[in-house]
Amino acid sequence: MLDRLTQLETEALAALEEAQDSDALADWNRHYLGKKGALTQMLRSVGELPKEERPAFGRATNEAKATLEAAYQARADALRQEQMQRELARGTLDVTLPGRPIGPGHLHITTQTLRQIYAIFAEMGFQVYESPDVETDELNFGLLNMPPHHPARDMWDTFWISDEVLLRTHTSPGQMRVMRKRCPEPIRVILPGKCYRYEQITARAEHQFYQVEGLAVGHGITMADLISTLTEFARRFYGPERHVRIRGSYFPFTEPSIEVDMDCILCGGDGCRVCKHSGWLEIAGAGMVHPVVLENGGYDPDEWSGFAFGPGVERPAMLKYDIDDIRLFYGNDLRFLRQF
Ligand code: DAH
Repeated sequence: MLDRLTQLETEALAALEEAQDSDALADWNRHYLGKKGALTQMLRSVGELPKEERPAFGRATNEAKATLEAAYQARADALRQEQMQRELARGTLDVTLPGRPIGPGHLHITTQTLRQIYAIFAEMGFQVYESPDVETDELNFGLLNMPPHHPARDMWDTFWISDEVLLRTHTSPGQMRVMRKRCPEPIRVILPGKCYRYEQITARAEHQFYQVEGLAVGHGITMADLISTLTEFARRFYGPERHVRIRGSYFPFTEPSIEVDMDCILCGGDGCRVCKHSGWLEIAGAGMVHPVVLENGGYDPDEWSGFAFGPGVERPAMLKYDIDDIRLFYGNDLRFLRQF
């Protein structure tokens, strides 16, 4: 058997030298190394040998296989080289041809929208402050005036990582982080970032989306400051003719809490499919920072006051650019993305 193996190896190496192109190489590979190839068959026949000869034969076969594989690789490389040399000699490969141009990319619609928002708030003196996507229960809920079992927690369907850790459901926990970092300085920041909700994905709801939280803390800050800031934002982002409407609302971390609406950009208030015939579009939840939240951040609520707001990013972009399905943002379809 060992003799047959040596013979096979010699024969295979000789045959390899004869292979002149990739078809011949492939045939050779199939014939010697393939599943039904000569070497594989030989390895299978090990069972016919007396027990004591099997290990040595197995080893020899594997060595032969390694030799043949290496020889095959070398021959394939050599053939490729030869072919390239031939083509170069014939001049069919013109290395001076210009390369294929790579189309320039551009910023994603979400990034563009975020940057527009940053620019508007920067002009009003707001800095950008970033905080983590993975948060603790305490920061996402507890310190925002929602202790464990507080019913308002149900407003946010949550992706839990453990009993204490979660993917933030809103950018509001960043309020606590920036307050604790900056206290006792006054604050004027926006906190952009991704939020996560354990929600059914529909044309209007994604389980990942952006928000841009806003927070101002200082002396003598009032609701008038909040309303004027958001009105100014709406006019700069959507157009100077916009009107803003305020409704009372509830959030555990603001008191009083409001919902900010804007007259519909499509129908100007007459009623259409976008505003569901109400004439108004909701743009953000907001309110005056709750005394408990100020205190948790290190600020004495008798001396300090503040406002906060939390608009989304994709929905404003949907309104501005008339996009009717939020799933398009992260569907990675270039036909959609190239339009912006
Ligand atoms: N965090 C709220 C949400 O995701 C939005 C919000 C409401 C943010 C009121 C605020 C606020 O800062 O004051 O639904």
